Amino acid sequence: MKADLVVVGSGFFGLTVAERAAEELGLKVAVLDRRHHIGGNAYSENEEKTGIEVHRYGAHLFHTSNERVWEYVNRFTAFTSYVHRVYTRHQGEVFPMPINLGTINQFFRSAYGPAEARELIREQAGELAGTDPQNLNDKGIQLIGRPLYEAFIKYYTGKQWQTDPKDLPADIISRLPVRYTYDNRYFNDTHEGLPVDGYTAWIERMADHPNIEVHLNTDFFDEQHELGRNAVLGQVPVVYTGPVDRYFGYAEGDLSWRTIDLEEEVLDMEDFQGTPVMNYPDEDVPFTRIHEFRHFHPERAYTKDATVIMREYSRFAEKGDEPYYPINTADDRAKLLAYRDLARGEKSVLFGGRLGTYKYLDMHMAIGSALTMYENKIKPHFSGGQPLV
Ligand code: FDA
Repeated sequence: MKADLVVVGSGFFGLTVAERAAEELGLKVAVLDRRHHIGGNAYSENEEKTGIEVHRYGAHLFHTSNERVWEYVNRFTAFTSYVHRVYTRHQGEVFPMPINLGTINQFFRSAYGPAEARELIREQAGELAGTDPQNLNDKGIQLIGRPLYEAFIKYYTGKQWQTDPKDLPADIISRLPVRYTYDNRYFNDTHEGLPVDGYTAWIERMADHPNIEVHLNTDFFDEQHELGRNAVLGQVPVVYTGPVDRYFGYAEGDLSWRTIDLEEEVLDMEDFQGTPVMNYPDEDVPFTRIHEFRHFHPERAYTKDATVIMREYSRFAEKGDEPYYPINTADDRAKLLAYRDLARGEKSVLFGGRLGTYKYLDMHMAIGSALTMYENKIKPHFSGGQPLV
């Protein structure tokens, strides 16, 4: 196949661009991914012994209020009625999250109504009222008061960053949501659910088009490859969704990321924790949360003899680790601006997705911005109306 467009990365961003270009414009699209599978970080597979669907790169819950994205994703999959809820285990007790009236009343052994609870939190947050917090610890106390902050946020955040919140910048958090109702739905979006046949079936349907050719285990920077950078630059337009710093040979320095380590275990029991996600906000537990995958699909007839859990540990990424969450220090932001300048000079290459833009994107955001790139830059280019650049 001679490609009209090369897409680097088969995550939701890359596949959305590829699918639109192949289906609507009839272009021949080559999709490259250096991994052995498509789907990027949303990839899932059935755990061997139990058949339980496991999200390989951390739990992925689909939610959106974007009608254009919702209409688009429903072309490839139906969604279950799954609604995400999270609980947290603090000093031997389980509380609902995010902090809501149920959490507050359980924590303070009380039966406050919304107005009383609001007043209580205002009083407790008053400890640092009128000050300008310089670190995350003070900011947390100022937002929700010391007792709730120290129970549910302080050590959890410390574990996420492997850093004492007193040494973290205040601007990591702008708000800590507290709900003065008993609503403990995690997301506020109009649409929410999990793909009925799993993420991989959804992703495969997006790539299943006669004009799309997928090349796995293929690194764009492989100098020998016929679709590698050397061969295609200047010949065929490229949509690049890999790390922007790597594209430019780290010329402006490495952008910093957090990564997670996932420790999977199959347990000989039907149900370990009775819920999909349990947070562990206490200092003496090294992991941040435990996922139990069977609970994402209560509608499926999974085995009753075993269950799959995953403990999640968080740390700074080093070279070779999977980059997951941009750290976004002032230094990173300066480097990113320099990379954006370089990217603007790179003719016929568009940078997109979470790695290409150094931005945390939920799935619906990655899909939404890919649809926008397609409409504004790719479609006009191939229809004789310029853009791309
Ligand atoms: P993605 O990272 O998925 O894909 C990029 C692809 O490019 C990868 O497959 C990579 O191998 C490939 N690539 C990179 N360099 C290459 C090279 N040189 N050559 C060839 N290929 C290359 N979202 C949400 O909506 N709900 C959720 O619950 C979660 N949960 C979640 C948990 C965790 C731990 C993380 C890190 C992220 C989430 N997300 C999420 C976000 C979700 O993963 C994200 O929206 C998508 O991965 C974005 O898709 P992209 O295509 O941008 O990147």
